Amino acid sequence: MIAGLGGPVMVAAGCGGTGRELAPYAGPDGLEGLDFVTRSITLDPRPGGAGPRLVEVPGGLVNAVGLPNPGLEHFLATELPWLVRAGARVTVSVAGSTMGEYADLARRLSRAPGVTALEVNVGAPDEVGAGLFEVREPYHAASVIAAVRREFPADRPVLAKLRPDVSRIVEGARACQEAGATAVVVGNAVPAAFPDGRSGGLSGPAVAPIALRCVAEVARALPDVPVVGCGGVHDVASARAYLSAGAAAVQVGTALLHDPTTVARLRAALTAHPQEDR
Ligand SMILES: Cc1cc2nc3c(=O)[nH]c(=O)nc-3n(C[C@H](O)[C@H](O)[C@H](O)COP(=O)(O)O)c2cc1C
Repeated sequence: MIAGLGGPVMVAAGCGGTGRELAPYAGPDGLEGLDFVTRSITLDPRPGGAGPRLVEVPGGLVNAVGLPNPGLEHFLATELPWLVRAGARVTVSVAGSTMGEYADLARRLSRAPGVTALEVNVGAPDEVGAGLFEVREPYHAASVIAAVRREFPADRPVLAKLRPDVSRIVEGARACQEAGATAVVVGNAVPAAFPDGRSGGLSGPAVAPIALRCVAEVARALPDVPVVGCGGVHDVASARAYLSAGAAAVQVGTALLHDPTTVARLRAALTAHPQEDR
């Protein structure tokens, strides 16, 4: 459990859409009480990449969605109030192309009613983060976290989302914690290619062993840093594998595209039997 957040299972960034798409199918209570991480929000609107954006492959998906989002202004006016009314506990994922953009996003979101936490996407695609930082370099990630932390109230969580292919994942997690991150989300889509050779990110059960290894390394080396495991969680066993490796919580992304009730179901199962198999 991460202080300030709810249960051990969260909706991963970008995989619950705006919330409206998921709500009717998420379970009997819709989004009520769910920890919902929004798609990554940028200051300006982004149309996202040209299609096809998703292709199913054995064990998961390759995606190149390109962080489509309506920009901060529109998000604050429409999507955020809707999510709050739906009863979700909202963590806003932010992505920027300069340090100032990250700071601006954090400042303006700190004043918006209903924002429980921020998740900093420090592994944003190259065309977003290019020039700002090398996303695999731990200390660059940490400077983004510091810029966000300065602008966001100290009593609300800031999560640092690290790619599993970051170099020196333990150093990355430590640097982010020292920069003010409340927790690290370990895992994201893994660099991959579409069958036609275009670049994308692989997600789903195929990436679970990669993220799991990173989670175990971070949890072993930094027992005081809360870790959220992300990558390939789709059933109770895959969620428990992360918790057994030392994660405090997990996020579910791709599995929601197959079964939108996954978060509600796993949350109920893990809350009813939190210690089983551990
Ligand atoms: C369609 C799609 C959209 C995504 N959008 C975002 C996003 O906006 N921000 C982000 O940080 N991660 C995004 N991700 C990555 C997921 O949040 C997650 O880290 C990754 O898919 C691994 O988890 P999974 O195997 O459970 O999907 C996206 C993934 C997919 C498949």
